[in-house]
Amino acid sequence: MTGAEELRKNLKETVAFLNENGVKDPEIGVILGSGLNGFAERIADPVVFSYDDIPNMQAGKVSDHRGVLVFGEYHGKRVVMLAGRFHYYESLDMQKASYAARVLVALGVKRFIITNAAGCINTGWNVGDLMLIRDHINLSGNNPLIGDNLDEFGPRFPDMTYTYNAELRKKLKTKASEKGIGLREGVYMMFTGPSFETPAEIRFARTIGADAAGMSTVPEAIIANHAGCEIIGISLMTNMAAGVLDQPLSGEEVNAAAAEARDKFGTVLDLAIDI
Ligand code: HPA
Repeated sequence: MTGAEELRKNLKETVAFLNENGVKDPEIGVILGSGLNGFAERIADPVVFSYDDIPNMQAGKVSDHRGVLVFGEYHGKRVVMLAGRFHYYESLDMQKASYAARVLVALGVKRFIITNAAGCINTGWNVGDLMLIRDHINLSGNNPLIGDNLDEFGPRFPDMTYTYNAELRKKLKTKASEKGIGLREGVYMMFTGPSFETPAEIRFARTIGADAAGMSTVPEAIIANHAGCEIIGISLMTNMAAGVLDQPLSGEEVNAAAAEARDKFGTVLDLAIDI
């Protein structure tokens, strides 16, 4: 079987399983980043699946990322929330790192809300700030569309000029400011991880125009954009990036900041689902 045939077959199995078990015509797909997985519990009367029970779905091993797909009606919309993602650094496999996004597309999702925890490169910003992603830089050295193109999803050479929807960004910024929440806007840069960046890498990232550093989101955004979906990207600054302050970084710090900002992030996610 070619790579494309195998991917098609796997997606067919995954989608058939989800459809048969009550996941029908989702409009919005939400991918929850570190520390935000609890948001999925807001869906009333949900259909819940552990990734382990979904054919071909890869569960990540990072402890906070539970690996649960939740479907239900939320704020009057049919929403699929993915609590837990499989990261590129877990296996150097872009197909696995983007499979969940492929599933959302194949289920019929038209709007993606992709969230993450990120290191703050912009020295004018602070830990706890939320950034709407205006654009990204893919420093992973890889691309989830490498290999046979699935023409039914999108073109071989997809344009990336308007990946993160400007109109939705503007609306979301206005709505958030009405609630007293200021949203930053900037460029997300994907490093592979799992080691955090060096101070020199962060200086490089800043020089070439990045505001935030992270280890996710880009594979999913490339897949969603390929398929013509609208994308809202939201990064939570969980720490100042390496070298911005004269102190080490830690995963605990990231989780603590994510916990601290949970309410604000939840409000912005609600607004993003409403627009
Ligand atoms: N770098 C990369 N990924 C991250 C960071 C960081 O500083 N913080 C949270 N995720």
